[in-house]
Amino acid sequence: IKRVAVLTSGGDAPGMNAAIRAVVRTGAQQGIEVVGVRRGFSGLHRGELQRLGPRDVANTIQRGGTILLTARSHTWRTPEGRAKGAAVLREWGVDGLIVIGGDGSFHGGHFLQEEHGIPVIGVPGTIDNDLYGTDHTIGYFTAVETALSAVDKLRDTGASHERIFVIEVMGRHAGHIALDVAVAGGAEEVFIPEDKKPIGDVVAIVKDSVAKGKRGSIIIVAEGYQGGAEAVAEAIQEGTGLETRVSILGHIQRGGTPVSSDRILASRLGEAAVYALMDGKKGVMVGRTAGGITYTPLHETWEKRKDVSRDLYRCAKMLSI
Ligand code: F6P
Repeated sequence: IKRVAVLTSGGDAPGMNAAIRAVVRTGAQQGIEVVGVRRGFSGLHRGELQRLGPRDVANTIQRGGTILLTARSHTWRTPEGRAKGAAVLREWGVDGLIVIGGDGSFHGGHFLQEEHGIPVIGVPGTIDNDLYGTDHTIGYFTAVETALSAVDKLRDTGASHERIFVIEVMGRHAGHIALDVAVAGGAEEVFIPEDKKPIGDVVAIVKDSVAKGKRGSIIIVAEGYQGGAEAVAEAIQEGTGLETRVSILGHIQRGGTPVSSDRILASRLGEAAVYALMDGKKGVMVGRTAGGITYTPLHETWEKRKDVSRDLYRCAKMLSI
């Protein structure tokens, strides 16, 4: 192969720049030209492509966001939109496309390959950590650190006022961030979409913690749990009458300097994505599982569900006495 394109798509994640850098520099080392696509699939069908050399990605490994910009494309969801994108890739003489993103982006890549035969390799980049085929996704570690530092701060004010704080963390359909933050932040309870625990359970938990002499509680709720933090806080207020505050951390969790684990994961997976194309692989996501590089068919990354660690969930309950 002579020329490879790379794009970032969907929600940005800290470490995406490290992945782009790894793709560009691995390509350069192997004599492969790398073309960057701006604004994800939206930019692809509009022809927003530019050559990238090793110096273009200098001073980016420590930067959050994505230097290539990203978007959630509606046009790409239509066969016409994908046909336009495929034509642009052919015009540029691109032999393979590397898509850094989450399941929505992998859907886009999968259909491009199915309909137009352009080899696609996925690199898992999403803070949600919800892709089957890799232990962790790029951006997840940083998001957990960011959310955790907010939880620690909210605990200070919560304890001072003897209030209950219900904190909502991101995770559209997944509780990975919530569970890690709950354990590391010493939360009294965690609500995740993977467990259909009734919302009313929180009343007994809060009453119990007050009876044990706790001076305030931290409850973590994943965004994807029915009704989110607002619904949980309402149940507490109604069931206990105790002063409750809600804090929705939101997009702050997507920004910031990537922590070392995200930079290292991104560097390894960006390199592996170029090698995968060189080996003739296509339609797979490169992942890291139990310390090794793995290849999972793109459609399996969203068809198979990556469960939260049930053992960690048990541990969270065990330690919240
Ligand atoms: O997929 C990453 C994510 O941050 C989810 O946790 C969240 O539900 C969603 O993206 C938010 O998307 P947007 O940035 O389009 O509001």
